[in-house]
Amino acid sequence: MTVKEALETASRKLKKNNIENSINEAKYLLKYLLKKDDVFFITDLNYELTDDEINEYEKLINKRCSHVPFSYITGIKEFMGLDFYVDEETLIPRPETEIIVEYMIEHFKAIPMDILEIGVGSGCISISIAKCLENVNILGVDINEKALVTANKNIKEHNVQDRVKFIKSDIYENVEGKFDVIISNPPYIRKDIIDTLEDDVKKYEPILALDGGEDGLYFYREIIRNASKYLNKGGYIIFEIGYDQGEEVKDLLIQNNFADIEIIKDLAGFDRTVAGRLKLLK
Ligand SMILES: C[S@@+](CC[C@H](N)C(=O)[O-])C[C@H]1O[C@@H](n2cnc3c(N)ncnc32)[C@H](O)[C@@H]1O
Repeated sequence: MTVKEALETASRKLKKNNIENSINEAKYLLKYLLKKDDVFFITDLNYELTDDEINEYEKLINKRCSHVPFSYITGIKEFMGLDFYVDEETLIPRPETEIIVEYMIEHFKAIPMDILEIGVGSGCISISIAKCLENVNILGVDINEKALVTANKNIKEHNVQDRVKFIKSDIYENVEGKFDVIISNPPYIRKDIIDTLEDDVKKYEPILALDGGEDGLYFYREIIRNASKYLNKGGYIIFEIGYDQGEEVKDLLIQNNFADIEIIKDLAGFDRTVAGRLKLLK
């Protein structure tokens, strides 16, 4: 079977199983398997695949047809131009989460600071910040020990072990000290919505990374309620939020002595990030 034939068969099968962009997905999976660049897929469409390659490709396509997310098949997801290891214990980093990192770069470039991240998952936020801002020290926590294994692998891969440390903690449980910024992309999906999500998400991404409690706001409430114990006066809190949570999270911040609250939209025009500053005086 040639590359061209394999791609045609695979993309038909993917389409039949409701995978969008089936042509591209078929190509990217074969590219991943053969470790070839884009040029190969223009110049070598008549390359004859070996039997092993055909079998392996079929396994990859079958996984994708069962809606295993592409990034869990390849084990890698790009975020802020960097590659991160991911697996079924870590949320797949989303492009809209880059807004938190961009906010940090824009506001705090060259300022030395201590940062706490709650719910690190793959570690993509903390590690990207450390790669972009030289003067930061970051403590990240996650309740899921298995996610921390992958997050720690990413710390090493990106060589930021001198400035980024991840520990197991249920929110602040094992956190000591004070920080200049608290960051979190917490689980924020309402419990009753989870069942309506696409299969790729609800069947394969970790429930611990999705479930934000009855109203989706559990983690915002918990993090904000205790933030003043861990945040220096004038310190910042920066959250990713669901598209309809901006006003509620803003209110929670106001009720807990935060000011200068900004709600930032993503590229699709939805509220996506909220930042606020702990008041200097009560
Ligand atoms: C939405 S994911 C975000 C992962 C990563 N920061 C990202 O943006 O891709 C939320 C993370 O919070 C973690 N988490 C859930 N409950 C937690 C808790 N009680 N304390 C600390 N982390 C928790 C989950 O394991 C998950 O890794």
